[in-house]
Amino acid sequence: MSPNAGLDAVKHYKSAAWTSTERAQIYDRTTNSTSDLTHFLTTEFIGLLTQRIAPGSAVLDLGCGTGVLTKALAALGHDVTGVDISQAMLDKIDAHVGPGRITLRQGDVYALPFADASFEGVITRWVIPHFRDWPLIVREAARVLRPGGTLVIDHTSRANYALAAREGALDHASFGYDPRVRGGEPGGFYAATTVDELQLVADTAGLDLLDVAPLGFFRQNAVIAAVLGAEGFQSYKKAVDAFYQDPGARAFIQWFERHVTRALPLDMANGMAVVLRKRG
Ligand SMILES: C[S@@+](CC[C@H](N)C(=O)[O-])C[C@H]1O[C@@H](n2cnc3c(N)ncnc32)[C@H](O)[C@@H]1O
Repeated sequence: MSPNAGLDAVKHYKSAAWTSTERAQIYDRTTNSTSDLTHFLTTEFIGLLTQRIAPGSAVLDLGCGTGVLTKALAALGHDVTGVDISQAMLDKIDAHVGPGRITLRQGDVYALPFADASFEGVITRWVIPHFRDWPLIVREAARVLRPGGTLVIDHTSRANYALAAREGALDHASFGYDPRVRGGEPGGFYAATTVDELQLVADTAGLDLLDVAPLGFFRQNAVIAAVLGAEGFQSYKKAVDAFYQDPGARAFIQWFERHVTRALPLDMANGMAVVLRKRG
């Protein structure tokens, strides 16, 4: 068995899982809400890129899925290319939202169908943490970025899992993410990382690491899941969602996520937003 057999198994599993029409339909249905906390965090995440690029920039959305980020960036006037392994996902995207132009390409984030230095900005959400060899995706993103261009990725925090382990037993199945898998069990795998590792990956890919901050305290948090237990965590998440529908509560949660969460240590949240800049 080759040393990469586990990694290949993960990639094949993930690609096969994502390319079905049924998956695209379900994904499209479940990710289009604009009234939930995820939508707010998405907007904050996109802002990390748009505050650093000029209006109308050429931007790439890696593993764009049904185009949540692609469409939001086009609505802000950017010239957006969305790339995804799944044609079924791409077929769900209305490419006419504008005012920015949308171009869709079926392709692999490990071997992008674009020339070096094609984009001023690259963004990716909910893709990198699926793959243990995620640094290869970062390297490929850096290749297609122009010198001085910005790369914004999400990741999950290894420190959050470590703190959770000290607080109690984390039921990874109900939490949804499991970063402990070594090679096999492709279905459960989600990568996690640290600032030191990100720094190393950035250096190797010719990127400056500009900013690493927690992204989202309230919902997907391994510490809260470990403290409450599997059942408690599920009802807690429902309660947060209901709380968020109240205008005053929503204003508080949004303020907290924007100002407090970003300032917390990385062990206090599971999601991380990472901003990098291409050297040269
Ligand atoms: C969880 S979805 C995220 C979609 C989108 N980025 C979002 O934020 O809603 C993961 C996406 O990664 C895509 N994907 C998985 N492996 C890929 C690969 N090797 N190359 C390109 N896309 C891939 C899947 O088809 C799927 O659309």
